[in-house]
Amino acid sequence: MTLRCDLVIRDATILDGTGAPRFRGDVAVEGDRIRAVGDLSSASGAEEVDAAGLALAPGFIDAHTHDDRLVLCGPECVHCKTSQGVTTVVVGNCGVSLAPLRLSSRPPPPLDLLGDESWFTLGGFGEYADALAKRPTAVNTFAFCGHQSLRVEAMEGDVYRAATDREIARMQDRLRESLRQGAGGFSTGLYYPPNMHAPTEEVIAIAEVVAQEGGLYATHMRDEADRVADSIRETARIGRESGNIEVVISHHKCSMPENFGRSRETLALIDALGQDQPLAFDVYPYPAGSTVLMPERLRQDVPVQVTWSVPHPEQAGRDLDAIARDWGMTRVAAAERLLPAGAIYFQMDEADVRRIMAHPRSMIGSDGIPHDAKPHPRLWGTFPRVLGHYVRDVGLFTLETAVHKMTGRTAAVFGLPGRGTIRPGSFADLVLFDAATVRDHATWADPEAISEGIARVWCNGETTFRAGQPSPGAAPGRFLGNPRLRDAA
Ligand code: ZN
Ligand code: CU
Repeated sequence: MTLRCDLVIRDATILDGTGAPRFRGDVAVEGDRIRAVGDLSSASGAEEVDAAGLALAPGFIDAHTHDDRLVLCGPECVHCKTSQGVTTVVVGNCGVSLAPLRLSSRPPPPLDLLGDESWFTLGGFGEYADALAKRPTAVNTFAFCGHQSLRVEAMEGDVYRAATDREIARMQDRLRESLRQGAGGFSTGLYYPPNMHAPTEEVIAIAEVVAQEGGLYATHMRDEADRVADSIRETARIGRESGNIEVVISHHKCSMPENFGRSRETLALIDALGQDQPLAFDVYPYPAGSTVLMPERLRQDVPVQVTWSVPHPEQAGRDLDAIARDWGMTRVAAAERLLPAGAIYFQMDEADVRRIMAHPRSMIGSDGIPHDAKPHPRLWGTFPRVLGHYVRDVGLFTLETAVHKMTGRTAAVFGLPGRGTIRPGSFADLVLFDAATVRDHATWADPEAISEGIARVWCNGETTFRAGQPSPGAAPGRFLGNPRLRDAA
C-alpha cells in the first residue's frame, strides 16, 4: 500500500535533533505533523522535494530572544528568524516581557528594549495569546513573564528599591494568572539597575508560584563579571528554594578582561550544582554582548558600539570613542547625551565563548534585539554562524551536536512536546540546509545581512522560507502556551 501525504522530502541527510549520527532518508509530512521517517520509496507526496546533498534538521529553537513585539507584527517581521532556519522563539527574557503590563509613560531601561510606552498595551498573557492568534506570525512563540514587567506594575514605577511584602504578593498573583494564561515561566534581569535592588528572597518568593503552577525560571544573572560564581550559586539557590524548578542561566558568559578564562571555573560549578537540580544555560556565538547603554558602567578597556539612540539616531552603528571625539567630550559625557540608547560591548574572550558553547548543557540562543537601528549581528547570524563558522570552519563540535543544541536539547529543557526532533508524530518544524555552504553574513558593520545556505524552512508543515525569501503571507506559527502547567485545582 502506498502512503500518500502532503509532502515527501527525499534523500536528505537527516540530523534528528537528538544528537544521534546523521543518516540518509526520507521524511513524509501530512498536515502539521511528520508522518513517517526512513526509506519511503513506496510513499508519494502532493509535493516532492529532492534533498540530495542537503541536511534536514528540526526547525531551530531560539532559546533566548527579545522578540515579544516582533512576533506581534505579522510574518513579514520575522525574516531575521526564518532566514536562519528558526521555527520557534523564546520571548520574555532578562526580566523583560511585553505582557502583562499597560503603560502610559516610557518604561525604565532595559524594559524599553521592547519599545516605548505605546507598545505596552497588553494587560495579560491571555491578551498576548489573543493578539498572536488574531495576527499570527511565521514562528512559534514560547513566552516568559518578566520580573521587571511585574515590578513596574506592582511597585507603580518606583522600582529602584526592594519590593514590599504587599508588592511581592501582587507580583505572585500576577505571575500565577500569567502562567495559567500561557506564560511558560518566569524570567529575571537582576543585573539591571532597577532590578538589582530585588534581594534573592524577593525572587524566591515570586518563583515559588512557578513551582506551584508549573514552568521554568530563566535569569540574566546579577553579575556576569567578578562575582559570576556567586551569581551562579544565587541562581541555583533560587531554583532549589522556590521548589526545585528548572533553571536556565541566560547567555552565560565571563565578562570583562580580568575574568577571561574563568569559564573553566563557572562550568565546573554549574556541573557540580546541576547534579542535584535541573540547570541549563544558553549562549550566543559572539565575544560581544548588547543591551541598553549604561554610562555608569563604561570601562576604557571595553570598546562600545552604539546600536540606537533616541536623541541621536544618526550615531547608531558608530564607535562611542569616535562619537566622543567628534563631540569633543569624554565618552561618559557622550554616552549620557545619547540616552536613551543601546550598545554593543566587546567584553568577552573568544576562548570562553567556545568553551561555554561546547559544554553539553548549552543551548543556542541569539539574544537578538530586533528593534535596534544597528543591531548586534547575532540577530541575523547566530544559527548559521554556529553551523558554518564553529562547526565547519573551526571544528568546535559535530554538526549533530550543533543541531542538538538548537533543537532537541532546547525542546527538552523548555518542555516543548512534539518539537525539536524528527520522528513520526512530531510537528513538521523543519529546516533544509547545505552544510557545506551555510554561513552567516551579518557583521558589526553590516548587521542585517541575510545568511547563506538555508534552502527551505517549514513551520507546522507550512513553508516559511525558501530560496532566500520568506514565503509571502505564510503565518503558521502558534503560541505554545505553558506546556508544564499543572491542572488548576
Ligand atoms: Zn540579558
Ligand atoms: Cu537577553
